Amino acid sequence: MLAIIGGTGLTQLANMNIERREIARTPYGEPSGVLLFGRICNQRAVFLARHGYGHTIPPHKVNYRANLWAIKEAGATGILSVASVGGIRADLGPGTLVVPHQIIDYTWGRESTYFEELDRSVVHIDFTNPYDELLRQRLLAAAHRAGEPIVDGAVYGATQGPRLETAAEINRLEWDGVDVVGMTGMPEAALARELELPYAALNVVANWAAGRAESRQEICFTSIEGTLQQAMGKVRQILEHVCEV
Ligand code: HPA
Repeated sequence: MLAIIGGTGLTQLANMNIERREIARTPYGEPSGVLLFGRICNQRAVFLARHGYGHTIPPHKVNYRANLWAIKEAGATGILSVASVGGIRADLGPGTLVVPHQIIDYTWGRESTYFEELDRSVVHIDFTNPYDELLRQRLLAAAHRAGEPIVDGAVYGATQGPRLETAAEINRLEWDGVDVVGMTGMPEAALARELELPYAALNVVANWAAGRAESRQEICFTSIEGTLQQAMGKVRQILEHVCEV
C-alpha cells in the first residue's frame, strides 16, 4: 500500500475514495491529522496532510517522527511525498513538476531520528541516495502516462522556515548546488529511511526563489496560490497513474 503525504496545496485527494479514517497514536505523539484510507484507481492507499487538514502546522512544527511512524504502522510499503518548492535552477520556474534525486539539509532543531535512546548502540543509516530509485521511476513513468511534463533530477535544499529565504541565502544555496528549495523534505526523507520505507518526492515549483526572475524584488503570494492550484491538478493526475503499475 502506498502512502501519500500531501503538502501545501494538497490537503485532500479528490480522486481518492475514502473508506476509513484513523486517528493514530504513536510513541512520538500525534501525527498531523487523521490517516485517510481508501483507494486510488482501485488500489489501496493512505493519505496524510503534512500541515494538518486546516493547514495550520508550520514546517518546523510538523511532527515528522509521528507522521512517518503512523504511516509505517498503517502498513504502508512506500511513501510519495508531495511538496511545494521555490525554483532556483533556470529551467525550474513556477508550475514545473520535479522529482528530486538529492538533498542538502539546512534545517536545525527538528526531531530528526528514531535512534537516540542512550541505552542502544549507535545506528547510522546509509543516505548516499536519499530517495528510492524505483519509486522515483514509478513517479516519472506515471507522469509520462498522464501526459504531464516532469523534470527528472534536482538537488533539494531543505531550509528551516517558516520565513522564506533572503536573496543572498538563495545565492549561497545555488553555489552549494541546490536546484529547488523547500522546508519539509527533511527530516522526512531520513526518517523514512530509518524505518526502511522507500520514499520519493514530487516537488511542485510554486515560485521563483528569492531574488530570481519575478521574485527579484519580492515573492508574490497571490500568484503562488494560482500556480499551486493549477499544478496540483496535474499532481492528482500523476498520482492517479502511479497506482497503475
Ligand atoms: N522557499 C522555501 N520553501 C518554499 C518556497 C521557497 O521559495 N516556495 C515554496 N516552498
